Amino acid sequence: MSLDSTILAALRAAGTGSVSGAELAQRLGVSRAAIWARIEELRALGYDIAASPHDGYRLVSAPDVLHADDLLARLGKTRVIGRNLHVFRETASTNDSVEKLARDGVREGVVVFAEAQTRGRGRLGRRWVSPPGKGLWFSVLLRPALRPDEVTRLTILAANALVRTLRTHTGLHPEVKWPNDVLLRGRKVAGILTELSAEVDRVQHVVLGIGVDVNLAPHDFPADLRKTATSLRSECGRTCDRAALAVALLRELDRDYERLAAGEFEAIATEWEAACTTLGRDVQIRVGDRRLTGRAEALDPDGALLVRTEHGRLERVTGGDLTLLK
Ligand code: BTN
Repeated sequence: MSLDSTILAALRAAGTGSVSGAELAQRLGVSRAAIWARIEELRALGYDIAASPHDGYRLVSAPDVLHADDLLARLGKTRVIGRNLHVFRETASTNDSVEKLARDGVREGVVVFAEAQTRGRGRLGRRWVSPPGKGLWFSVLLRPALRPDEVTRLTILAANALVRTLRTHTGLHPEVKWPNDVLLRGRKVAGILTELSAEVDRVQHVVLGIGVDVNLAPHDFPADLRKTATSLRSECGRTCDRAALAVALLRELDRDYERLAAGEFEAIATEWEAACTTLGRDVQIRVGDRRLTGRAEALDPDGALLVRTEHGRLERVTGGDLTLLK
């Protein structure tokens, strides 16, 4: 852990209490002056840290910024996802940033957040609006032992982790629209973009990109999305703590990634199905130039959707643009 991570972890662990500079200095093997310098840096980032000559330092409040050291300190030890983490003030797309790390041979589990994306993208070449400081825009590098046709499992896993986190964090009832949309009261609040690099029968790496509209106001969305998109703030009626949400989400992702590696995809899929608004509904799916209409019956073991078509055939669909029919 870095100096800042350890200082922030100690201040958080003290709760409303204080930690003395001498204790921090001893724990970190640095001088009290070095601790003071770090505290000043943290203050400059917006951390309100009270200092008293008798009691030491106390964390009064943290700013609404994503700070890599603070996220790592709050996250603690994870098995894979989040064992390393970067935050950029701005990047084109966090999926591209992680793709670069993947090509450099970085090990799986690294997470890249950006406060803003200038070219955030969604599925099917769509734009993903990512204004500064309003959402969680991040990507995770994974090197799973999966075949390319099993990668939809990761999208299912991510949607499941999102649903659990948003439910716990907001008390609301998130739903999933296959394959990658998370909805609140029928409006999209989060999306997943899974991009892979693979050989014929082996995945080299996967970039799992997740966007959560946390504190966007209606006017932050482009006009054409205002009726179909929403944010946690709009749904809860209050501003949400992005850092706390990020930490909770990374923990859930790490937990489900471990379950996947342990061969428990079926259990994940069962949870996903319970939150899914797609199954049992009449749907239309556009896959390239093709339109498929039918009843969404089930998920197959790889996370593909099984659709009973108008003509009674059962089709297996691994991706596409799905519309729920009335
Ligand atoms: C979708 O619903 O179409 C997927 C949206 C995925 C958006 C996230 S934000 C972080 C990551 N970087 C991107 O450019 N896209 C994903």
